[in-house]
Amino acid sequence: MEEDRIISAQELKDDRAWDLTLRPQSLDDYIGQKQVKTNLDVVLQAAKQRKEALDHVLLFGPPGLGKTTLAHIISKEMGAGIKVTSGPAISKAGDLAAIITNLQDGDILFIDEIHRLNKTIEEILYPAMEDFALDIVLGKGPSAQILRLDLPKFTLIGATTRYNLISSPLRDRFGVTFRLDFYNDDEIAKIVKRSADILTVPIAQEASHEIASRSRATPRIANRILKRVRDYAQVKHDGNISHDITRKALDMMAVDKYGLDDLDRRLLKALVENFAGGPVGIGTLAAAVQEEAGTIEEIFEPYLMQLGFLARTSKGRIATDKTYEYLGLEKNKDSKLF
Ligand code: ADE
Repeated sequence: MEEDRIISAQELKDDRAWDLTLRPQSLDDYIGQKQVKTNLDVVLQAAKQRKEALDHVLLFGPPGLGKTTLAHIISKEMGAGIKVTSGPAISKAGDLAAIITNLQDGDILFIDEIHRLNKTIEEILYPAMEDFALDIVLGKGPSAQILRLDLPKFTLIGATTRYNLISSPLRDRFGVTFRLDFYNDDEIAKIVKRSADILTVPIAQEASHEIASRSRATPRIANRILKRVRDYAQVKHDGNISHDITRKALDMMAVDKYGLDDLDRRLLKALVENFAGGPVGIGTLAAAVQEEAGTIEEIFEPYLMQLGFLARTSKGRIATDKTYEYLGLEKNKDSKLF
């Protein structure tokens, strides 16, 4: 199950309290995503100089890369309040109206998983984002009337892992869009070191690099692994996170040098062994490993593609030379690989 995976990029139960202590509070503290930071800094300065609310911001990218963290940083940098909710949490128009009408001028409304908003709610958002107005329908049928409520000049920050699931009318209403990318190993190692310092645990440089290389280029996973390695170092060692202890702890968690676990290997094996390396449709592949297609697309594939262990083509998913090499399998000459 996804929630049992140490290397899950999704937010798990224990992550939240942890995130609160480790989350950077300012753009200066935020490591990596250089291009996003540079552009965001300009947008923030400009809005502050004009004493205006920031344009609506859309953040997209794989889970665990810091979209929520950035939203909190934006609110701090703007000196604005922030209300946090998510697409699936807003099921009725009244839920959204209650949240928006309670905002102050300049406040931020953060909607995580914004691609999961239902259509009716999305349509209420359009005038809210564009004209800072909420249209309320009073009554039914021919005598129905629309009452227009003025709203505070708020900033909507939407976050999504699935950019292509956002309708174009919604997309168009965001003034700025930032794509978060996987981090490189040096950046993750810096994040691990920063977190270890906050937690006052001594960590060897090679250890933070070892954690980085097995964290799927994802800060959330790196911080989670750090926590487990810290426990291991405390119980099996003297509390210092050495390179050797880190390797032992990670091997015990069955996370390999690429940050892949048994579930990833099962998926890659199915692709190669059951479907001769593909192309195979996502639905078929999902059924073979008994996972949901959405989970595979959102959680497994982004990083496997980043590694070059899987490719998406118009005909379906295919294994690459690297997949065979990784699994230690020979490529079947008759397979339909191209
Ligand atoms: N913790 C999680 N993401 C981070 C980042 N990008 N920089 C610093 N600390 C982090």
